[in-house]
Amino acid sequence: MANIARDSGPAPVSLWTVPLDISPIVVKQIKSLLSVDEIERAERYRFPRDRDRFVVRRAALRQILGSATGVPPEQLRFIADPAFGRPFLLTAESGPPIFSSSHSDDLALIGLGPVERFAVDIERVRRIDDFAAVAARFFTPHELAAIGDPGDAHALDRFYRCWVLKEAFVKALGEGLSHPLDSFSVDITTDPPRLVSTATGDPSDWRFGLIQPRPGWIAAIACAAGSLGPIDLRSWSFDTLP
Ligand SMILES: CC(C)(COP(=O)(O)OP(=O)(O)OC[C@H]1O[C@@H](n2cnc3c(N)ncnc32)[C@H](O)[C@@H]1OP(=O)(O)O)[C@@H](O)C(=O)NCCC(=O)NCCS
Repeated sequence: MANIARDSGPAPVSLWTVPLDISPIVVKQIKSLLSVDEIERAERYRFPRDRDRFVVRRAALRQILGSATGVPPEQLRFIADPAFGRPFLLTAESGPPIFSSSHSDDLALIGLGPVERFAVDIERVRRIDDFAAVAARFFTPHELAAIGDPGDAHALDRFYRCWVLKEAFVKALGEGLSHPLDSFSVDITTDPPRLVSTATGDPSDWRFGLIQPRPGWIAAIACAAGSLGPIDLRSWSFDTLP
């Protein structure tokens, strides 16, 4: 599969926000879309609220991928990368759509991207008292300089921007948090943000986007494509199902 779509024009990205706290009656209905493995995973959550949120995000993922492929959502099959666990869709000869998902609190973000090295990450922005210590542990000097004085009113927002960009990047590599977070630097001072250094590959291969899908949330897109096309952001609702 091509990793970089350099000359094929701006790479389109479709995103859906998925509100996860929905009616228990709907949760019960859509649970039938999940596989046995997914239901077992749902049942392993200790708290009913987390179990239901998992059901909702997986059902939404199946509906979105079902509509992108024409395969009934309950028939979709996934395979996980054996080394790092990234899930891929097993389907059609034409090549499965590349997807990425992320969730924070009661909101999920699902993205369909143009190349395998594509991912999204979302976080709810909350006060973290020791965010400067977290940043010092995981971020590079370049990123720490961009976040600036932790006492500054906007420092927490800058911390979160860095965080989602870095998570989206390691997810796009497929390695997740196995990839050392201090082995690459993102620059949040440019618009769009960019990768300025990485221990693996060429930083100029990468494109990033930052969006605020809802007030109080921040999300990043990382994509190894020549250029990022317009980002089509929609809100997913099970009420609008055909
Ligand atoms: C991937 C990872 C960064 C997710 O971070 P998070 O903020 O907790 O979770 P998010 O909600 O943003 O993302 C979760 C989604 O990322 C995807 N994902 C899982 N592993 C992934 C990976 N290695 N690369 C990219 N995406 C991955 C899945 O779609 C998952 O959705 P699901 O929970 O519905 O299955 C983190 O869990 C991680 O690093 N996992 C890999 C751990 C690992 O290396 N294990 C090796 C032994 S198996």
